[in-house]
Amino acid sequence: MERSDRESMYLDILKGLSVYFDSPFVADIRETALRYPRLTLGHALNRNQMTSKRWLVEKLLGATGGELGRVCILGGWYGVLGAMLLHDPRFRIERVRSIDMDPGCEDIARSLNRTHAEAGRFEFQLADMYEIDFPKDAFDLIVNTSCEHLETIDKWFERIPSGTLLTLQSNNYFGIDGHVNCVDNIEQFKQQVPLSETLFEGELELKNYTRFMLIGRR
Ligand SMILES: C[S@@+](CC[C@H](N)C(=O)[O-])C[C@H]1O[C@@H](n2cnc3c(N)ncnc32)[C@H](O)[C@@H]1O
Repeated sequence: MERSDRESMYLDILKGLSVYFDSPFVADIRETALRYPRLTLGHALNRNQMTSKRWLVEKLLGATGGELGRVCILGGWYGVLGAMLLHDPRFRIERVRSIDMDPGCEDIARSLNRTHAEAGRFEFQLADMYEIDFPKDAFDLIVNTSCEHLETIDKWFERIPSGTLLTLQSNNYFGIDGHVNCVDNIEQFKQQVPLSETLFEGELELKNYTRFMLIGRR
């Protein structure tokens, strides 16, 4: 496919930005956009998504001091959150496993995390989170920012060993394809995923919807 002048312009700008910010993350985004041009990649990196994940990163840092160890990200989509955590020098992370059941995510997530995949610190697993075993102590942190996609979230939640550190997000963005478990407020979200210890709970107003987040122990 011929690349339009407009596409070339955006890619040039991304390349320039990666030089200006000396950022391997921006370079990985550029390479990924070049190799896998699709609207959903833009969605995964849009303002609302990045704002929600930046919020998560800051609150997680506050709750943990940055010691994360072995991280599991469920419904990890194109691996944006994994990349944000791994590129952030304030965290100490042994490795990130990003799990998604959509095979279309695999190559893109690896590409977006190329820097850390090559270093053996990022891996993608193709799996349905309802079917995975979560042995106690396999992960130091389990993240699930796709709670709005889980119709029977209790069935997933009961698989998580008690005491596990969790970071969970949902939203009230009803009416979107795949959003089968939105909640109206943080109280409803807390009822869906009852934590034994809460380190953070909050709401973030975004354009079109509100994001809810809980950090704490199962
Ligand atoms: C649209 S995306 C991500 C939305 C979310 N707010 C975020 O950015 O984290 C939702 C992802 O969850 C994945 N997903 C949904 N149900 C899943 C399941 N049971 N197991 C694994 N992945 C799942 C989908 O394949 C998709 O990639």
